[in-house]
Amino acid sequence: SFAPRIFSGIQPSGGLTLGNYLGALKRFAGYQDTGIETIYCVVDLHAITVWQDPEALRNNTRQIAAAFIASGVDPEKSILFNQSQVSAHAEMAWLFNTVARVGWMYRMTQFKDKAGKNSENSSLGLLAYPSLMAADILTYHATAVPVGEDQKQHLELTRDIAAKFNHDYGTEFFPITEPLIEGTATRVMSLRDGSKKMSKSDPSDASRINLTDDADAIAQKIRKARTDAEPLPATMEGLKDRPEARNLVNIYAALTGEAADDILARFEGQGFGAFKPALADVAVEAMAPITARMNELMADPAEIDRILGKGADRADAIAHPILEQTKEIMGM
Ligand code: ADP
Ligand code: NA
Repeated sequence: SFAPRIFSGIQPSGGLTLGNYLGALKRFAGYQDTGIETIYCVVDLHAITVWQDPEALRNNTRQIAAAFIASGVDPEKSILFNQSQVSAHAEMAWLFNTVARVGWMYRMTQFKDKAGKNSENSSLGLLAYPSLMAADILTYHATAVPVGEDQKQHLELTRDIAAKFNHDYGTEFFPITEPLIEGTATRVMSLRDGSKKMSKSDPSDASRINLTDDADAIAQKIRKARTDAEPLPATMEGLKDRPEARNLVNIYAALTGEAADDILARFEGQGFGAFKPALADVAVEAMAPITARMNELMADPAEIDRILGKGADRADAIAHPILEQTKEIMGM
């Protein structure tokens, strides 16, 4: 049996959205005080599976680290580091490339989405992405991974890799990691289209709230969010077939920690003319201190690098022995 340990990562591939914040960052800090060891990673090796400008990547890596800290991840309580600084990730990913099957990779919906029609021309790394993700998690024997729903399929593949390794080598060396998909914001949707997730890669900036947006931008995007003309019902049950409305209420609930039905009890019978300004207020109130703290941290890049360097040393102390044992089991 394995000691409980949480691992999660975020790609430095551009700005962060409210989806990343509610689906990931906001929850990460909460796990720190549960007595479970928490390991959080800026996953730059994942980001480069699609083209990244080198200078932008360096800056984005620091920005994600700042976002972790601004969201409450304490580098003393958690291990916070950058993936490429701990070589065990890449090495373990290679070992897992020999365990995982090509067909598993082609089935991943994220690969299909990101590779698009011209998938033969995507990077080999983009196809093998889930193998590196399995390495991130299993190199720490992590037992649980807090993620949004979009990452569930990848996590299942991590479990498949662990199970196949254990089976092929007649061992129980790797845990079968559990996804932690909890709360009302496991899938924050686009503000322009209730059928798509809010994403930093959406070409429409109006579709998302960025962690760097100021109060005016946040209020304006919420005011312009797509909705219907119906008044709000008394409970969430009444929003079953109204995805845009449901999304806005879920965002309100996730930001405040209030139950969605309690929120609706207050707004029942009112339209979005009343609800949207209230949502804008809670969004600004929640986001403004985080944005401000991020900016403060970004003013001292050397300090961020120092924190990440210390985190990498601590991560390596766990990862390296597990990598060595894995090679030993495989006959190396
Ligand atoms: P992105 O999906 O924005 O490119 P990542 O793949 O690095 O970012 O995901 C970082 C974390 O944010 C993951 O845990 C992912 O599940 C979560 N996440 C991303 N988008 C959303 C969303 N719209 N709603 C909820 N969680 C999300
Ligand atoms: Na994602």
